[in-house]
Parts: sequence; structure tokens; C-alpha cells
Amino acid sequence: MGVNKSIKILGIETSCDDTSVAVLKDGEILSNLVANQKIHSDFGGVVPELASRAHQQNIIPTIHQSLALAKTELTDIDAIAYTNGPGLLGSLLVGSSFAKGLSLGLDKPLIAVNHMQAHILAHFILDNESIPTFPFLCLTVSGGHTQIVLVEDHLKMRVIGQTIDDAAGEAFDKSAKMLRLPYPGGPLIDKYAKLGNPEAFKFKTGKVEGLNFSFSGLKTNVLYFLKKQMAKDEQFIDKNLNDLCASIQKTIVDDLIKQLLKAAKKHKVKSLAIAGGVSANSELRTRLMNLESEGYTCHIPKFEYCTDNAAMIAIVGYYKFLSKDFSGINQVPNPRMKL
Ligand code: KG4
Ligand code: ZN
Repeated sequence: MGVNKSIKILGIETSCDDTSVAVLKDGEILSNLVANQKIHSDFGGVVPELASRAHQQNIIPTIHQSLALAKTELTDIDAIAYTNGPGLLGSLLVGSSFAKGLSLGLDKPLIAVNHMQAHILAHFILDNESIPTFPFLCLTVSGGHTQIVLVEDHLKMRVIGQTIDDAAGEAFDKSAKMLRLPYPGGPLIDKYAKLGNPEAFKFKTGKVEGLNFSFSGLKTNVLYFLKKQMAKDEQFIDKNLNDLCASIQKTIVDDLIKQLLKAAKKHKVKSLAIAGGVSANSELRTRLMNLESEGYTCHIPKFEYCTDNAAMIAIVGYYKFLSKDFSGINQVPNPRMKL
């Protein structure tokens, strides 16, 4: 291969309830399509069996559409990158089996990708507003994870703090469920919070050692508070929805920012980033950017690279391709894959 030849990676993401396929040319995204699975909102959460069936239905059309949008033939692809974990096993199996089939059929290398690493490397897709320099701290906040990661290079990173129970996204979604909002409630809390007073009600997260987090106590805190208020006034939630959302959101975001700052001071890092689905939260984005006035350089990925997407899988594929870090066909998806 000549030095100047560009590299095209096909990225496939099926870790949870979104089927996504992207085509990346060097660091540039040519297409990044996401087929959402609406079905889960009827059940108040992701139903694993339904998610894997929907991936099976969506994967071929999503691949075709993404390739067409990128004006790319399968034969032009240099490698196939796919999510190997963490995630739901039935969902991971669909993407990984498909990627392996493509790799064998096309005789192109296969690259297994860690979904959490992908959330972080989403920052290196070239159409982002700003790209972090090393070392930086990344607060990765999603439906399943809450981590502070010290990132020293594209493929060299270390978790220095994490949740000991629920993830931040879970705290949003479970609180939203108690407020009778449909799943996933995180974006709705964000929406209603914009109209509410964040100081209206006081909630608390758990106290933990070091750079860790604990969000499971928050849901009990919210639950007991709501029960007490509803006993006095059945309409309490409806009457106070905006203030409840703003207060819950503030409690979660306060804790995330506090621990990120503590980590920055401890590790003497001046460059900060957020990633994962919860980094789409407008309050978290504003509060992070406010830290620039304290001398930090702050980075937020483009909105479409925050929630689950295949562009982030493809960018990890690109860096692994450059370091010739390929995977064997006998690779087994790992639902609890660590960073
Ligand atoms: O990274 P992601 O798309 O999937 C996982 O890997 O888990 O994150 C999904 C999570 C959900 O909990 C969802 O409610 C939350 O991200 N989320 C938000 C917002 N947008 C997505 N939470 C708060 N505010 C938002 N705007
Ligand atoms: Zn994710």
C-alpha cells in the first residue's frame, strides 16, 4: 500500500438498541446512519430480545444506505470495524457476525472495537468543532457507564474514576420514569429543565471515595420525595414537572462536573472532554464550556457523535488500522468488555 493512499473503514455499531453503519475516509465521515428502534419506548426500557431481532431486520438496509450515501462500493473498503462490547450480547452478536461474514466474503481485515473507547475517540472525527490534544481527561457518560478516563494517546487510556452503581444516563432515565416520562427520559428531562428552576428542590447523589460516582441513591431520594408530595397533592408531578426536571438535572450535572474538576486537579490535566449519550445534555455542555474561564480547554463532540453511532466505531477502526491492530475471526463479543 502506498503512503498516500487514503483508508476507508466501514463501521458497524449494534451494542444496544441502535443499528448504525458509517463509512470513514481517513478521519472524515462520508456517511453515518442510525436506525433507531422505536419499539422499546412501549416497554419503558430496552428489551434485549426485541433489540437483537430489530438489528437483524435493520442491518442490511442500513449498510446499503450508508454505502450509497458515501458513494462507496463494498470492494473499496479497506477494513471492517465493529463493536465487540460492552453491550447486550444478542445485539452484539448481530453486528459481529455480520462484520465477520463481510470480512471473510471480501477478504478484508476485521477490527474489533471497544464501545467505550469509541465514545472517546469520537472526538477525533475531523468535522468536530475542536480536537483534543494529549493528555486529556474524558468524562464518558452513557446509559450503561460513567467513567473519568485519562487519555494519553488514541489507543492508550486508563479509567481513573467510575460509578460504583448506576450510570448517569440510568439516573436520568430512572428519574424520568418516576416523572411518568417515556423511555429514554434523559433528553426529555433536558427539554423540560430548560423551563424550570434548578434550585426548586434539593436532591442528592451518593458520597463516594476518590474520583468515583454513586447515582443509585438519587432514584430512592426522588422516589420518596415524590411519594410524600403526591400524598398531599396527586397533581404534584404535573404541576412541578419543569422544576423537578431542572433540579434532578442539576444534581446529576453538579456531581459530574465536581468529580471531573477534582480529577483534573489531581492529575494536573488542563484539557477536558465529555463523551457518550449524556454528553448531549445541554446543561452538562454549558457547564463544561464554562470551565474555559478557569483556564481549561474543553471539548464536546458534535451532537450526532455523542449518542451511539457507527462513526465513532469507524474512527477507532482507523487508528487500529494504522497500528495494524487487527482481530481474528474467532473473536467473541464481550458484553462486559473493559476499557
Ligand atoms: O451512549 P448512549 O447513546 O448509549 C449507551 O451506550 O448507553 O447513551 C444513552 C443515554 C440514555 O440514558 C439517554 O437518556 C442519555 O444517554 N441521554 C441524555 C440526553 N441524550 C441522551 N441524558 C440527558 N440529557 C440528554 N440530552
Ligand atoms: Zn454508548
